Amino acid sequence: MSVQQAGREQWGTRIGLVLAMAGNAVGLGNFLRFPVQAAQNGGGTFMIPYFISFILLGIPLMWIEWGVGRLGGRHGHSTVPGMFDVLTDRKKKWAKYFGILGVVMPLIVFIYYTYVASWMLGFSFFSLTGRYFGLGDDVAARAEGVRSFLVNYQNIHDSTGTGGFVPVLFFAATMIFLGWILARGIRGGIEKLALYGVPMLFLFAIVLLVRIMTLPEAAATPAEGLDFIWNPEWSSLGNARVWVAAAGQIFFTLSVGMGSIQTYASYLRRKDDVTLTGLSTAATNEFAEVVLGGTIAIPAAVVFFGVTGAMAIARNGSFDLGIVAMGTVIGEIAGSQLWGFLWFFLLFIAGITSCVALASPTMAFLQEEVGLTRKRAAQAVTALGIGLGMFHVVFYRWGVLDEWDYWAGTFGLVVFAAIEIFLFAWIFGIDRGWDELHQGADLRMPGFYKPVMKWVTPVFLAVLLVWWGWTEARPKLMMEGVPEENVPYLLVARLIMTLMLLVGVVFIRRSWQRRAAAAAAGKPGA
Ligand code: PHE
Repeated sequence: MSVQQAGREQWGTRIGLVLAMAGNAVGLGNFLRFPVQAAQNGGGTFMIPYFISFILLGIPLMWIEWGVGRLGGRHGHSTVPGMFDVLTDRKKKWAKYFGILGVVMPLIVFIYYTYVASWMLGFSFFSLTGRYFGLGDDVAARAEGVRSFLVNYQNIHDSTGTGGFVPVLFFAATMIFLGWILARGIRGGIEKLALYGVPMLFLFAIVLLVRIMTLPEAAATPAEGLDFIWNPEWSSLGNARVWVAAAGQIFFTLSVGMGSIQTYASYLRRKDDVTLTGLSTAATNEFAEVVLGGTIAIPAAVVFFGVTGAMAIARNGSFDLGIVAMGTVIGEIAGSQLWGFLWFFLLFIAGITSCVALASPTMAFLQEEVGLTRKRAAQAVTALGIGLGMFHVVFYRWGVLDEWDYWAGTFGLVVFAAIEIFLFAWIFGIDRGWDELHQGADLRMPGFYKPVMKWVTPVFLAVLLVWWGWTEARPKLMMEGVPEENVPYLLVARLIMTLMLLVGVVFIRRSWQRRAAAAAAGKPGA
């Protein structure tokens, strides 16, 4: 049963795999979400819970997900339902149904994340045409100009500016491009994209970083921006809200608790290392996040708006530092068009290498459990992406995207990770799990990670679940404080998510019945 199945896709080269995994993790989360989270939670105050979460949640989950993925692949499964089934030695029928979360959540995130990535393509274009620069007499007015440009872009009901069909066009183009990459497969599509894209995005980011760090003093110096995030405050350890934000960021940025790392890892060979490469992925992501992501948008905003000004901007929303503040700052320096293109195209590349990772579980599910060919699966993902995507494109104003982001991209990750670690450390068993991870390993994991995986991470997750569930998810679920007019849209968004889960469950059931029938037919007399 554990023979590598003929015809399974595999990564071509180790460097290709490393870059693809880095491309998976490094994304808009590093360059847009991280600076906002850090600034909203007081800069240095955020960094201590952040690093503790990295060590106690991020690293162990990264290792587990690589290991679980490789194990699943060995048994012919590239998605979480089959992997969860394998973790219980196929003895617990319920496990595979929970696994559907690891397909539906990334699919939902894929759909809205691709929309945000497509804005970056739009902004790359409008940087080159200089569309959002110089819309005011002083910096504050010009920042307002960038903000209204963004708001107008997002509002497709207003076709006076760049709204209307333009964002739809960029969105559809991005989806079609992604469909084309996906149709080319793991080695020919995703690996190639990463091979070119990831080095390019690092190069762009380093060039930008140098530019920002050498900005002349305006409201403040770039060093004051660095000071703001690198001055830790121990008092933050007692602040539950900061912990929740930090843990949430670790999940999102490392792509753990989702199902996509597992799918990528399922294309490893039996003896391929997971410990060293898994850790390198995590380290690369953190470099891209705290060094590159933290050193571009925050200092840039601090230079022009001061620390308080930058914090106020961050409080406005998730895209205000990366799009509004950066757009404004770039408008102030020589060569705006080029710098703007560099920044937004870097974001676009970071985005699409994560988009393909988010789509991969669905691609694999459609092929393995539904029986589509790779090409058909890619067409289905593109069609679903554009079709369902139109829902939040059209109803963006009513909070549809945020609703999806909260359940499938924030709270759901913790739920999923809790189930996963329970299955791995308690049902499969930590001793077996530990051995499994060390097969073909190039690095021995420090021994203390064994009790961490068995006790610390699960307890951490349980506390997060209860605390976060009670203080945030419960009021969210009850729609407390939601404007009346948003309610119907959010209900439809929830209905769509529920239906997707149900459809997934039906397919799993069918697929497992078929497998059982085939196994029975295949071994008469055996
Ligand atoms: N880690 C990606 C980012 O930081 C987002 C992502 C999450 C991608 C989960 C794949 C899976 O933007």
